[in-house]
Amino acid sequence: MSKKINKILKKKNKNKIVCLTSYSKTVAQILDKYCDIILVGDSMANVLYGMENTRSLSLNNIIQHGVSVKKGTNKSLLVIDMPKGSYKTPAQAKKNARLIFMKTKCDAVKIESNSKNFKIIQEIVKAKIPVMGHIGYTPQFKKKFKVEGKDMKETRKLIKEAKSIENAGAFAIVLECITPKSAKLITNLLKIPTVGIGSSVNCDGQILVTDDILGLSGFYPKFLKKYAHLDRIIEKAVKKYSKEVKSKNFPKKTNYLYGK
Ligand code: KIV
Repeated sequence: MSKKINKILKKKNKNKIVCLTSYSKTVAQILDKYCDIILVGDSMANVLYGMENTRSLSLNNIIQHGVSVKKGTNKSLLVIDMPKGSYKTPAQAKKNARLIFMKTKCDAVKIESNSKNFKIIQEIVKAKIPVMGHIGYTPQFKKKFKVEGKDMKETRKLIKEAKSIENAGAFAIVLECITPKSAKLITNLLKIPTVGIGSSVNCDGQILVTDDILGLSGFYPKFLKKYAHLDRIIEKAVKKYSKEVKSKNFPKKTNYLYGK
């Protein structure tokens, strides 16, 4: 077990785990000071590439962004999402997890659960690559959004799924859009930390998409809090630049590299 993973495990029941997504070195450099985990999430499919969903993001895409994020990451644990289709069988999962691990020098990979792929987690862990699980709303497998754990039947199913992921050897698990009651039960029952998104304060940590909290993505569901309005700041700057170019107020002689 690496020192970084151990640090995350020790936070359970003590300190909250702070996690955010990054797709680039520049953003990672800022997050690294404040985050325990930086995730190169497949949410980049929607947020960055303007795709309709995360299901057609390629392995190459995620690796390229992983390489960039690694350059800005020092103290945080770097986790990279395995895209849909890259872990269909245990052998393929192991091969692709190794490729991600080798090319990006990340610390772990994340796998969305389809309630069946526990053996896949087991195989990757056996290959000495730490795995983060992901249950609840898993966009790679569920086309329709739904909050999960509203009744005992659903809660029992989520508990069973979370336990199977823990038993398969995952070091942590994302709980996406699960009811506060279910999140509390799962967090109390598991030995590994839970990281919530839209799943209340009853988790060991929280994760959000950085572009969403900065007001850049245009995606603002109720579970999200906007910590900045970068869209407005960017628009103001671009408007000023456009005005200055048109009025020949930019570039000024002070911006010239040579001559007058
Ligand atoms: O892809 C992603 O960014 C994620 C987080 C929202 C958990 O999986």
